[in-house]
Amino acid sequence: MWVQSLSLTDLRSYMQVDCTLQRGVTTFVGRNGQGKTNLVEAIGYLATLGSHRVATDAPLVRTGATQGIIRCEVVNDERVIMIELAINPGAANKARVNRSPVPKVRDVLGLLRTVLFAPEDLALVKGDPSERRRFLDDLLVQRTPRLASTRSDYERTLKQRNALLKSSSIARRSASTEMLRTLEVWDEKLAEFGSELVAARISLLDDLINLGREKYTFISGDDETLFGMKYVSALGVDSPLLTDRESWRLVILDAIHNKRKEELDRGLTLIGPHRDDILLTLGQMPAKGYASHGESWSIALALRLASFDLLRSDGVDPVLILDDVFAELDVSRRQRLAEQVSTATQVLITAAVDMDIPESLNGVKFSVNSGTVTLQETS
Ligand SMILES: Nc1ncnc2c1ncn2[C@@H]1O[C@H](COP(=O)(O)OP(=O)(O)O)[C@@H](O)[C@H]1O
Ligand SMILES: [Mg+2]
Repeated sequence: MWVQSLSLTDLRSYMQVDCTLQRGVTTFVGRNGQGKTNLVEAIGYLATLGSHRVATDAPLVRTGATQGIIRCEVVNDERVIMIELAINPGAANKARVNRSPVPKVRDVLGLLRTVLFAPEDLALVKGDPSERRRFLDDLLVQRTPRLASTRSDYERTLKQRNALLKSSSIARRSASTEMLRTLEVWDEKLAEFGSELVAARISLLDDLINLGREKYTFISGDDETLFGMKYVSALGVDSPLLTDRESWRLVILDAIHNKRKEELDRGLTLIGPHRDDILLTLGQMPAKGYASHGESWSIALALRLASFDLLRSDGVDPVLILDDVFAELDVSRRQRLAEQVSTATQVLITAAVDMDIPESLNGVKFSVNSGTVTLQETS
């Protein structure tokens, strides 16, 4: 699939911008702070309903405006779909597909698929577990959009359950029968949605592992060090041995009951997919804390490239976005990355200087300067 047009209204630094895009490689070049990332961030947002730079919506809307709009025409299998999203910080966002409002914003998930590489990806290796969970969940809902509702059901349940536990912990008295009965209702829901999420994450990781290894070897040029990844559940059970949803549901319920007292004391849900992690390893060592800068980059790139291949194997090439990554990489990683991405249906690249982009990725070029995006004459 590919994005044939992008329009932004009151988004980030843009009051209004309209670009017509092509298949193949497109580069956006301009000095730092000119608005390159703002363009591709918007495309990534339409695909995942989240930004790779910020956790909340407010920074996405132009300062002084109350609503930001992202509009893309996406071509998939000769069919054009127009997706529009109105971002309203502090109020509900709204979406339209082919000009008709959709009941829920998350109904747009899956219509545009992207894989985005950015300097922030280093946090996949070096950052908190939340970074890795987000990587997995974003890929999950792109592949299986119906899981977006499981994800939000889980988050809502967790919030309600935490609120209840907190109120009991603040009251500092033993929980009432009524409170415990309500808690049991939330236990059931937590186990129901949580088990679906965990089982789906583990099966996704299973699909990714061999691709990830292959990509790591390719990018690093190092086939001696074996890259590995494993789902680590906060429950302490050996995740790969437990794959089906019902087993997870029972294990979660059981663990919740064992933690009852501690959870009531601390006023917090202590187990569940919101506490899980992916353990990334090189050889016998965990990557976090041990991998060098270059190795960490190879892992991050391997995870993204594996995601791309996985989405491609589902039948449709996602749009590849490379936001300012070439500047981060040494020459050999640059070349190898270029080789891998050049076959994608559409590749969108941002860079401060042309020179950072390998020659094999020459394509349509836009220059971005103080918020104006200009198509350069191609020679
Ligand atoms: N919500 C916003 N309102 C207005 N300007 C913004 C907003 N968010 C970011 N900017 C501006 O956008 C610019 C950064 O754009 P960006 O696309 O990240 O640059 P780059 O070309 O380096 O990728 C900065 O000048 C920043 O002040
Ligand atoms: Mg940038």
